[in-house]
Order: sequence, then C-alpha cells, then structure tokens
Amino acid sequence: LVASMEEVDQTYIMIKPDGVQRGLVGEIISRFERKGFKLTGLKLFQCPKELAEEHYKDLQSKPFFPKLIDYITSGPVVCMAWEGVGVVASARKLIGATNPLNAEPGTIRGDLAVQTGRNVVHGSDSPDNGKREIGLWFKEGELCAWAAVQEPWLV
Ligand code: TYD
Repeated sequence: LVASMEEVDQTYIMIKPDGVQRGLVGEIISRFERKGFKLTGLKLFQCPKELAEEHYKDLQSKPFFPKLIDYITSGPVVCMAWEGVGVVASARKLIGATNPLNAEPGTIRGDLAVQTGRNVVHGSDSPDNGKREIGLWFKEGELCAWAAVQEPWLV
C-alpha cells in the first residue's frame, strides 16, 4: 500500500431538497464515488429550521437568507461526509459555481441545475468548515471510519 504524502481532509456534502425530489441522489453520490473519495457518513434527513440557520449563519444578513432557509427545510436532504486528499477543494470543483449559469458543463450544477436558489447540492468551502459542518449535521455514532478489506470480494 502506497501512503499518500498529502493530507486527508473531510467535507460535508448535502443533496438539497430539489436534488432528492428530482431523483438525482444516485447520480450525485456516484460522481463523488467515481472520483475516488471515501464515504464516511450518509443519511436522509428532514432539517429543522434552527439547524439550517446555524449551517448558513454567515449568510444571515443576506436578503436571500429567509428563502434559503425555506428551501433547505422544504423536504428531506441527503447528508454526507466524504474523506480524501484535497476532498474539500476537489468536491467544490465537481459541484461547480454557485450560480448554475456560471457552472461549467461536466460539473454537478453545470449539468443538473438552472438557478442559484435551486442548485441541488452543497459542499463545504474550507477544511475547517468541513469539520464544523460534519459536526453540525452528524452525531458521532453516525460516522464510520472504515478501510477496504484486502481480500477481493468477487472470485
Ligand atoms: P454560498 O455559500 O455563497 O455558495 P455555495 O453554496 O456555492 O458555497 O451560498 C450558499 C447558498 O445560498 C447557495 O448555494 C445558494 C444560496 N444563494 C442564493 O440563493 N442567492 C445568492 O445570491 C447566493 C450568493 C446564494
């Protein structure tokens, strides 16, 4: 096994209510899997208003804040923790720009979304926020630190 010299980070990825309702859960998860990151937490969850407000507290003063909270709490979201080398920055690249109009084709938002206020997925913007958001959305027992088995599963 070749150990990477680079640091392993954690990021919080969330499929927003529109992504769940449009049937994009498998499509979005598979992009992170195929890239090569490790899934360490996963749940479908109806977010209470207080948690949405805490998650987006830096945007509290923005005019779109109330609508953002209504959107995030409008139906269940898929909460995920992903781990890997450079996963925070890499996931942001896979996700694409905040406004789907500026998101490149090939990115999740570039391929699957139209409006900023309906941009299907969230990804932490720094390693510190990755840790903060995973702590916010998951209880300790819900996360799994795991390693792949060394024997092949299929003969
Ligand atoms: P932000 O943290 O700036 O973007 P990102 O999700 O790419 O990190 O904003 C958080 C969310 O707020 C964004 O995904 C969608 C919503 N939002 C709006 O509804 N209107 C806006 O003008 C902006 C900037 C964001």
